[in-house]
Formats: sequence, structure tokens, C-alpha cells
Amino acid sequence: MSDRAFYVTTPIYYISGSPHIGHVYTSVAADVLARYHRANGSAFLLTGTDEHGQKVAAAAAQAGMSPQAWTDSLVTKWQAICARYEVRYDDFIRTTEPRHARQCVEVFERLKQSGDVYLGKYAGWYCTNDETFWLESKLVDGRCPNPECGREVQWLSEDNWFFALSKYRDRLLAHYRERPGWLRPERAYNEMLATLEGGLEDLCISRVNLDWGVPLPGGGVMYVWLDALLNYITALDYGDDGALFRTFWPANVQLVGKEIARFHTIIWPAVLWSLGLPAPQRVFAHGWITIEGQKMSKSLGNVIDPFEIADRFGADSIRYFLLREAPFGSDFSFGEEKVRLRRNGDLGNDLGNLVKRSLAMLTRYRDGRVPARSPSALGTRFETLGRRIGAQIDELGFRDALESIWELVTALNRTIDEKKPWELHKRGDEPALDALLYELCEGLRWLAHAIAPFMPATARGIWAQLGLEGEPHGAWATELVWGGLEPGTQTKPSAEGLFPRIDAPA
Ligand code: MSP
Repeated sequence: MSDRAFYVTTPIYYISGSPHIGHVYTSVAADVLARYHRANGSAFLLTGTDEHGQKVAAAAAQAGMSPQAWTDSLVTKWQAICARYEVRYDDFIRTTEPRHARQCVEVFERLKQSGDVYLGKYAGWYCTNDETFWLESKLVDGRCPNPECGREVQWLSEDNWFFALSKYRDRLLAHYRERPGWLRPERAYNEMLATLEGGLEDLCISRVNLDWGVPLPGGGVMYVWLDALLNYITALDYGDDGALFRTFWPANVQLVGKEIARFHTIIWPAVLWSLGLPAPQRVFAHGWITIEGQKMSKSLGNVIDPFEIADRFGADSIRYFLLREAPFGSDFSFGEEKVRLRRNGDLGNDLGNLVKRSLAMLTRYRDGRVPARSPSALGTRFETLGRRIGAQIDELGFRDALESIWELVTALNRTIDEKKPWELHKRGDEPALDALLYELCEGLRWLAHAIAPFMPATARGIWAQLGLEGEPHGAWATELVWGGLEPGTQTKPSAEGLFPRIDAPA
């Protein structure tokens, strides 16, 4: 649990297309962390769009628009997808904003002052799709060596600015060796360590013949990846010596897809060190969503539209599915049938029915009023689990945390089946019935709290049905203590279930 300001970032997304489910995955994970830490202290979630680069310029040209007009027309979709999934960001940065460009130039000057920037000639290859410089020796059959890309590369011969990345190799190696947990999962850590051991080239950080980017003094624009990485500190007003920066840097966690780990865990720390700043505390390179094992791509026509899938299943069901289906570091396949199984099973049968039948019994036997508090064997179990779930979220073990929460859903359902409230009622065992009903309602209050970072709308729904005001947001250490629900609370069960069943299309 955190008692200091917690800073979490997503990559800034290339604005060139529409958001897909893979982008939502990273943003939702970041949102879970931010919501959890906001409840327990304070948090800042940054996301945004990466709007420069050759790829964007080319796409705009194809649409017959200026790059700025083109990105302006697209950015609303990227903000709308956050709203649709309740990704509650504290700032959404666009790299075309003046605040960002101004600070990028300031950073460039500071890097120059540190003696790590020099003029040189770049003669080599460039992949526009990945916006990456490649050495001749790295190409595969003369094409981009990234297995996800493999596109044609373009020959560049330009006078450009370079960053002395190679100078930081030893420090990077030491950093990796001293802090094995700084980059997770282990596979990503091992891969990057091997890259470092293989040697580092200096990095070209300008594009003299382009004009869509952050203009640099003396001509040309900043290399789009440096421009993009800097968003993590320009959003905090680093270049303007802002208070946000002092509060939130270094970031506690930077989330990235595994394909862009290298930029974030080799180039980025070196740039920060050159500026005299600390590296982020942790980078997590999460796995990829595939479609039946295949890459999601426009050409294969298998891209999952996150707006459409949320309309059919509800954003919370998708949030749950994404984080429950696989450990955060692993690839997993997205399939509608699997989503439906989770939705109808874990969410509908387990959680939804628990809420429904608990509140229905309270209505039947006690006119919907929460009975007196009573000690419960489940209480201690809940409190212990609350701490465990917090620790699991801290470790980005989202799936583990959801499994732990579901242990309690199962325990409460089992209690109903075992204690059979209808029999207690028939026997006239009122004290036992009161105890059971309090146990169930307090269990629901507890569950609403624990699921709130994962499924905010569902948590609000349970909260409202319990007759509670507002939404669950208090600190876990005080809220996840047994007995928080006030006796006498008038519950307000809703006729409609939380997760009505969704059948496969005929
Ligand atoms: N603009 C760069 C990042 C710059 S950050 C300084 C970029 N953008 S991107 O639009 O391609 O989005 C990349 C991020 O989206 C990935 O790192 C990952 O977080 C997410 N994903 C994109 N496709 C994905 C899947 N198929 N599965 C899971 N996440 C994926 O790279």
C-alpha cells in the first residue's frame, strides 16, 4: 500500500489509427493501479497520444489533410475510449501541444549542456512503421528486423544530432544487475540485459529533412521516439521546473507493451541520467493480446473494436476479462466465446447472483434493512485477504488479485448454500438468520470496495443497492475492516441483475 504520491503512465498511443483492444488493455491496467493508489493516498495517471513522426505525416497526406488537422480530428476517439472504459486519467498529453514542444527544446538544450549530444552523419536505414533506425547488419533480408513488422526500410543519409547512448552502457548494466525487479516480467528483463551485453550504439535524435515534429534550434525536428518519451516528464512540467514534477517523479510504474520495452528501459533511463534525473522505479512490459494466436492487424481483418465490444458486453465485463484471463506479463488470446464465459460465469453466476440473492433474502426476511452486527468467522478471512489483494495489486498481479477476490465471492455463495437461510427462517432461528444476513451484506460492502479499482461501475452498482451514498473510495486499511456496514441501513436492491446473461448469437 502506498502512502506517497503514486505516478503511473501508459505509452502514448500513435494517433494514426483508431484505438483497439490492445490499447485499452494497457490503459485499463494503469487505471486499476491509479484507482487503487488514489484510494490509499494519491495517484497521477498519465496517458495521451503520440502525434509526430513520418508515419503520421504520411497518413495525413494520404487523407489530404495537414498533419495537425488530421491529428485534431482523431484525438477525440482516443479520449472517448478512455471515457468509455472509465480510464480516469489525471492528464492526457498530446505531443503537438505547445507545452510539450517548448519543454522538448529545453530538454534538448540540457542534454547538449551535459555533453551527451553531438552532430554527426547518420547513414543507415529507417523503418517508418516502427519509427526506428536500423543498422545494415540488423536487417533481415533487407527488411525491418522487427518480427511484428518486416516492412521495407528506407535509406537515410543525413547530418543529424546524436545522443551518446553508448556512454551509458556500464551504468545501465549495473542498474540492471543491482535491481533485477526494476523491469518485469523476468523475460523482458533477461532480453534487455542480453541486448545491453551485446553492446550499444549512439542514438540519432533528430531528423533534419522532416518538418512534422518538434522543431529544433538550427533546423530539423526531434526524433519522434525521444519526443514521445519526454511526454512522461513534460506532462509534469519538468522543463518549466513545475511542482508536479517534484511530487511525482520518478514514476512508480511505467506500463508498456513488450514490443517497446527497449525504448523505455535502455534509451529512456540513459536520457534521464544525462539530465541528472532518476530512472523510473519500475517498468512493466506486459504481454500481447492475440486473436486465436494471431497478431491483431488491419490486414488480417481481426482487429477488436473496443467501442463495439463494450457496447455488447459492458465495459466492466471487458475490464474484468482483460485482467482476469492471463497474468499481466503473458500473451493471451481474445475471443468472444471466452468473454461470454467469464461474463456469464464469474460475473453473472458468481458475483451477480450473490448480490441478487443476498439482497432478495434481506428484503424477504428483514424488509431490506441490515440487521445488527455480529462477529463472523469470515470477517478475519476477509481482512487477511484484503491485505493480500493489496500486495498482489502492488506487484501488478491483477489476475491473482481477482482470483483472491473471487475466493470470497465463492465463500459467500457457499455460506448461503450451507446455512440455508430459508431453513433458519422456517425454524425461527432469528439470531442465526440475522448473523447470516449481516455477514452477507457486509461481505458485499467489502467486495464492492475490493473490486472498485477493477470494475468501477459494478462497484458503484453494488454500493447503491446496499443503500450507501456515493461510491466506494476510502483507504483499504480502514474500509476493508470487518463491520463497516451500519446496522439499520435500508438497502435498495434493483430488479435488474448486475450482469444479465448474454447468449451467443444464434
Ligand atoms: N507511440 C508509441 C509509444 C510511445 S511511448 C513513449 C507506440 N504506440 S502504439 O500505438 O503502437 O501503442 C503501443 C502500445 O499499445 C503498446 O505498448 C501496448 O501497450 C499497446 N498495444 C498495442 N497493441 C497491443 C496488443 N495487441 N496487445 C496488447 N497491447 C498492445 O508504440
